[in-house]
Amino acid sequence: MKIAVTSVSGQLGAAIANQLIKTIGKEHVVGIARTPEKAQHLGIEVRKGDYNSREQFNDALVGIDAVLLVSGMDAPDKRIEQHRNVIEAAKQNKVAKIVYTSIIGAEKGSAFSPIVQSNRQTETDIKNSGLDFVIGRNSIYIKPDLEYIDTYVKEGEIRNSAGTGKCTYTSRQALAIAYTQMLTEEKHNGNTYNLAGEAITQAELANYINTVYGTNLSYNAISIDAYTKERQDALGEFLGTVIGGIYESMHNGAYDIKSDYEKAAGVPHPSALELIKAYKAIFN
Ligand SMILES: NC(=O)c1ccc[n+]([C@@H]2O[C@H](COP(=O)([O-])OP(=O)(O)OC[C@H]3O[C@@H](n4cnc5c(N)ncnc54)[C@H](OP(=O)(O)O)[C@@H]3O)[C@@H](O)[C@H]2O)c1
Repeated sequence: MKIAVTSVSGQLGAAIANQLIKTIGKEHVVGIARTPEKAQHLGIEVRKGDYNSREQFNDALVGIDAVLLVSGMDAPDKRIEQHRNVIEAAKQNKVAKIVYTSIIGAEKGSAFSPIVQSNRQTETDIKNSGLDFVIGRNSIYIKPDLEYIDTYVKEGEIRNSAGTGKCTYTSRQALAIAYTQMLTEEKHNGNTYNLAGEAITQAELANYINTVYGTNLSYNAISIDAYTKERQDALGEFLGTVIGGIYESMHNGAYDIKSDYEKAAGVPHPSALELIKAYKAIFN
């Protein structure tokens, strides 16, 4: 059996590849990367695969039984076509199963919705492919919030537009455990899972960070427009709009969803406090 993981040079792809290696052994895991040299540290065979190239995926998926497709990072319309390159190459190579990392959230009502729509289109393309499939809808990573701790401390607050909207934060490591089961166990075929953790507000996030880091942060809500403008000024138009849209979605309750994590992973999702402690153990 050979299972391939795309975008294996990235953090999510690498976390899933490492969890697969632990579970089924490195001889059964193939990495695919736009930049293969960035994935050599994994110690597995790495093949070249840029989502823009159907030809590269025709070669990269030779002899593969199941492929994990990590969703792309480009603008929504472009992503749909990029994902189709992988799906069509999988069909051509008679890959039996495709597992896709989609996203939670609403298709309407926020600046993040176009990205959700593009993920839903790929879900439909995969369901129509005739291959066995499993779809995971990833919740929001907690890591970017925790990478901002120094800024929060400097400013004395966590400030965004989520208000009292809850977020079911997850981590790439938690997702890797779920995707490994979804790839290797047939019982998941045909399912779409919300891969999400405990639902917490931003005020609760501030309290948990205070507990783990000994900080004294409070949470302050600002308007959706003001926060999006702040992020656009800091990160540029595309990324700033995406981040603004994520907190707008949180505000709207789009991330306060029922999780299927335990069904997918076979173990409970770590609590928000456990996610923060795990991050501190690795990065501090
Ligand atoms: N749930 C969330 O909170 C959240 C937050 C951010 C992102 N995401 C999603 O998470 C996924 C990736 O996350 P990550 O943590 O692994 O991000 P990451 O560490 O930034 O890695 C991004 C990966 O995408 C690859 N990539 C970009 N363009 C590509 C292309 N044209 N063809 C092939 N590979 C390409 C990069 O390859 P190179 O090494 O060649 O650059 C890299 O491996 C994406 O689906 C993204 O949309 C989710």
